[in-house]
Amino acid sequence: MFSNLKIYATDPILELALAYKEDPRSDKVDMTVGVYQDDHGRLPVMKCVELAQSNITKDKSYMPVLGSKSFCTSFEKYLTGGNSDCVAASYTLGGTGAVRLIVDIINKSNSQSVIWCSDPTWSNHFGIFDAVDVKYNKYGYQYKSNIVDLEKIKTDLSEAKEGDVVLLHGCCHNPTGVDLSQDQWKDLFEFMKDNKLIPFFDIAYDGFSKNHGEDRWSFNYAFEKFETVFLSYSFSKILGLYGERSGGLLIKTPDSKSKALVESNIKKLVRSTYSNPPVSSVKVTNMILESDELQTIWHEELDVSRERIIRIRNTFQEQLTQYGSAIDGISGQRGLFSLLDLSIEQVQRLRNEYGVYLLDNGRANLAGLNSGNVDYVASAIANL
Ligand code: LMR
Repeated sequence: MFSNLKIYATDPILELALAYKEDPRSDKVDMTVGVYQDDHGRLPVMKCVELAQSNITKDKSYMPVLGSKSFCTSFEKYLTGGNSDCVAASYTLGGTGAVRLIVDIINKSNSQSVIWCSDPTWSNHFGIFDAVDVKYNKYGYQYKSNIVDLEKIKTDLSEAKEGDVVLLHGCCHNPTGVDLSQDQWKDLFEFMKDNKLIPFFDIAYDGFSKNHGEDRWSFNYAFEKFETVFLSYSFSKILGLYGERSGGLLIKTPDSKSKALVESNIKKLVRSTYSNPPVSSVKVTNMILESDELQTIWHEELDVSRERIIRIRNTFQEQLTQYGSAIDGISGQRGLFSLLDLSIEQVQRLRNEYGVYLLDNGRANLAGLNSGNVDYVASAIANL
């Protein structure tokens, strides 16, 4: 029965997070999976979530396939300011669930369409592309002094053909922490419109760069300009709902007929995969999206998280420089991640000799640093 199966490489993020948990050393440092940790290394339960949880109804009956109707309405309104009969919306199992459904829809709509993604990108993008068996290609995502080389992106995308899809990290690029400026976004969108390329935004860190709202400027700008736009949106990090699997997707289509087609296909995919989403996660997320009061609390909490990440970035950079490390640019990068310029041997030494865990490609979750360990990590890196 199973002899045709093959063994896959383990997931480079989640498996490492497990290895960290099993490490018995007391001075170990977790800079692996993208979770926000506070200055005590804890994953805070957000006040807005606690309040919503204590107010949701206890009814455990099945959710509609796309999540509740009110979730779809409030999610679209929250992100775009309106409710259009050309936009399909759905609750999803985190950002990953949204990316997966969108990639499925792209493949079912046009199997010749190629998805172009940044190189480097979040490793699971490739996992999803492979699982759906969609065509994909990469555009170089290079930067110097935290300025992205837009010409390189455009040169690589000049190979794309009409109807291809460009996967864009709306903010807090994973893994580099380096984003396009607003002028660069505008320039890229003009190029994409000229070449009839379709934007697909993956946004998981809205609020971890400048502020919640402004961080999704690129999406909102493109949403106005393009006829077709894909968005996968994660609440995992920004509501601290990781294991609850909270996310959503929006697909802007050219007309209401296309919207009906897309929606019907999402329903078919969800129903035949997990049937419908978990009731309490939909209710909690929806309650926050519908309440001005909870949103105010939420955004204030996000401000606190973001400011801590920026402070720890600055401290880390200062300490690295003081210890004589050549690593640079951390202060100006945004979101949870930076890609540290370390060889795989150095990353492994860091793990084995110091108990400091980052991904093999040098991606480090800066929220794993705090006032108690930042000096230790900076000196360990400088000693490599
Ligand atoms: C990450 O990049 O670490 C997060 O998006 C979590 C995940 O699922 O990989």
